[in-house]
Amino acid sequence: MTYAMPENFVWGAATASFQVEGGLECDGAGESNWLHFCRKPGRIKRDDIPLVGCDQYHRYREDVALMKRLGIKAYRFSLSWARIFPREGVVNEKGLAYYQSLVDALLEAGIEPYVTIFHWDLPQYLEEKGGWRTKETSKKLGDFASFMAKAFGNKVKHYFTVNEITMFTAAGHNGSGMAPGLKLPLQEIYQTIHHGNLAHGYVAQALRGAAPHAEIGIANNPGITVPLYETEENIDAARRATRFNNASCHTAIEEGRYLDEFLEKVGKDAPHFTDEEMKIIATPTDFTGFNVYTGNYCTADPESPQGFKMFSGAADHPYMDLTWLRFVPTAIYYGAKFIHELWGKSTYVTENGCSAADVLSQTNEIYDSGRIEYLRNYLRNLQRATAEKLPVKGYFQWSLLDNFEWAQGFTPRFGIVYVNYATQQRIPKWSAKYYAQCIKNNSIL
Ligand code: NOJ
Repeated sequence: MTYAMPENFVWGAATASFQVEGGLECDGAGESNWLHFCRKPGRIKRDDIPLVGCDQYHRYREDVALMKRLGIKAYRFSLSWARIFPREGVVNEKGLAYYQSLVDALLEAGIEPYVTIFHWDLPQYLEEKGGWRTKETSKKLGDFASFMAKAFGNKVKHYFTVNEITMFTAAGHNGSGMAPGLKLPLQEIYQTIHHGNLAHGYVAQALRGAAPHAEIGIANNPGITVPLYETEENIDAARRATRFNNASCHTAIEEGRYLDEFLEKVGKDAPHFTDEEMKIIATPTDFTGFNVYTGNYCTADPESPQGFKMFSGAADHPYMDLTWLRFVPTAIYYGAKFIHELWGKSTYVTENGCSAADVLSQTNEIYDSGRIEYLRNYLRNLQRATAEKLPVKGYFQWSLLDNFEWAQGFTPRFGIVYVNYATQQRIPKWSAKYYAQCIKNNSIL
């Protein structure tokens, strides 16, 4: 079949605890730094607050049944650390039981659980002790991972360590409007990124110890640079640009070092680190997961010191519902290709999707043709990667449900399933029907 995908390709959907669970004040859940942040007026668009959100905490059985109907084979979800440990060292049995029941419900439905240990919601008591400004937090996340892996036992066979390091570190500390909403000097910002890298390493080590049967890897957001057009020189330039532009995270994780060029560029603002920490950060993992929504362009440029010239896109470059969501479908192909070529890793696409200004038709349907076109183009580029035998293990659509889009609140709708927040009704959009059909045919329609 045209655009056929490999056998056993993992067709998934993804969400994250703070974005879909709700129940944030139920059954003894503790406060996270994100909830604390949202409670302050003026931080989140329209002052939205996901106390109830999609209420997956109470409706997970319905959501699992929905995934089963769509033919989804794997569900990526994250753990609310504060729900499980509302106070330091104190387990909330009901919070823990929630995740155990979710895993059981998934397995009963034939859906493979993929657990993200940390997707941004940090217990507020740890935020108050220094959050990502201290490496104590990194170490504690490792302990939490170990506890959870033991609690899940053999039932969970796939883990993502942490999600998008620069978003919970840099973007929360450089005035970009993410929790905890600080604005620190540059050196301290790089230091938080280093602590995020370290957290990934501690979690990887902990999971190896507590879940030796499981495959593990990060779910990060490397900036992918693609060639403006495909010549040998431009492809080579884009590969080098992808490595260089991700030097605050990926060379540390994959190569165990910060590049000399990076350390020279940031100079006195460079993170402080030890050889021992670099070894922890570079703990070997089984794959590299990457979230991909957009990309940057480059061409080879023998005149410039780095040998390439970057373009983020023309002012009128097509984008989806949010301005940062520029339409660059080749980024998914080049992400899989460059991660493999640079670091020898197999990959999962841990997130891909787009928001759209979805409207309900009179017949209660959502004709999200823009999202279908976005998905089709990205998925066909992913199919190109698999056809070239690049080791891509699976794809997680972001997102199963419309949900809480951080500082943007509930306004952007990223789901392939529409959520009516007043009634909690779930309505699969046409993109969900499209995705279900791709899964059924194991090819990109
Ligand atoms: C990546 C983040 O992991 C996720 O939480 C977010 O909703 C999507 N990007 C869309 O912005």
